[in-house]
Amino acid sequence: MSKAPVRVAVTGAAGQIGYALLFRIASGEMLGKDQPVILQLLDLPQAQKACQGVIMELDDCAFPLLAGVFATDNPDVAFKDADICMLVGARPRGPGMERAELLSANGAIFTVQGKSIAENAKEDVKVLVVGNPANTNAYIARKSAMKVGRTNPANYHGMLRLDHNRALSMAAAKIGRPVSSLRKMAVWGNHSPTMYTDYRNATSNGDSVKALINDAAWNNDVFLPTVAKRGAAIIEARGLSSAASAANAAICHVRDWVLGTEDWVTMGVPSDGSYGVPEGIIFGFPCECKNGSYKIIQGLEIDAYSQEKIAKTLKELQEEADAVKSML
Ligand code: NAD
Ligand code: LMR
Repeated sequence: MSKAPVRVAVTGAAGQIGYALLFRIASGEMLGKDQPVILQLLDLPQAQKACQGVIMELDDCAFPLLAGVFATDNPDVAFKDADICMLVGARPRGPGMERAELLSANGAIFTVQGKSIAENAKEDVKVLVVGNPANTNAYIARKSAMKVGRTNPANYHGMLRLDHNRALSMAAAKIGRPVSSLRKMAVWGNHSPTMYTDYRNATSNGDSVKALINDAAWNNDVFLPTVAKRGAAIIEARGLSSAASAANAAICHVRDWVLGTEDWVTMGVPSDGSYGVPEGIIFGFPCECKNGSYKIIQGLEIDAYSQEKIAKTLKELQEEADAVKSML
């Protein structure tokens, strides 16, 4: 007997990332090749015509797993009974901007949507914020949802998976081994230039990546800044922010959360106080997932260099949280 459909709400459905995301969800790449889905698309009134075009194309793919799709400009309709909400809809930055500059333009979106999710979605809804600045937007959505109650505050995430995937790719190239050989990469903190990408615990076919690279200067002067500034480099090259790789990362995040991980992955999750990060800050941590829930990996050694990096990215997130206090 076929499974009951999972309801996936996607905001910003008419945008670049939406276009790279929806077809992959409908084809079963996110939730499995035996899992029917219903897509509930949200975008602004002026984007409804474009959403209808996307729906026409989804229809034209005749995806066997697509059990339904609709578009709306009303968050309460889009999030109704949703099992998963992927909050992509927000303004992207242009050349020369930092992601934090988007806070005033985008933050307000997430007060409205957090509240609407808490009022309308399933109680165990899983929420992933992709729209930038992703950590603090997730923080806003979670706080707004918590005022309503009903949904699980642990299930409001911000996306750091793109940074994790970028780090995997770059480390694999450096050691001359396939990405598939790598395990235990971690990106701590904010999806911003202060993020701390950490391969101290990473392995490649069981060998220490740190020992294989054995070059602290390359780590500090090349690897960390290249991963941290990759988003800007893509905007510079494409004239537009990353879209296909961002959609891919969102699929990886939700897939691992729902279907489980073999090992650890980076997720931006509300801190439970782990590693001295105050409760509620949405922070990139190494996590493992099982039976639809996640756990922050505990007990990793944090050396002085790492502690300094983690403190820096935490400080930035605390400043962002302070800056949005009035919205909450
Ligand atoms: P885009 O401009 O192509 O699309 C954004 C869409 O969101 C548009 O269709 C717009 O109408 C819609 N939108 C705006 N406000 C909305 C609202 N209140 N409700 C619903 N929809 C709304 O942008 P994009 O390239 O798809 O990027 C979307 C966001 O994702 C940006 O903020 C971008 O910076 C961010 N992003 C994050 C990551 C990450 O790793 N976390 C990676 C890439 C991009
Ligand atoms: C990225 O990392 O590619 C996105 O967050 C887009 C951006 O503004 O950098």
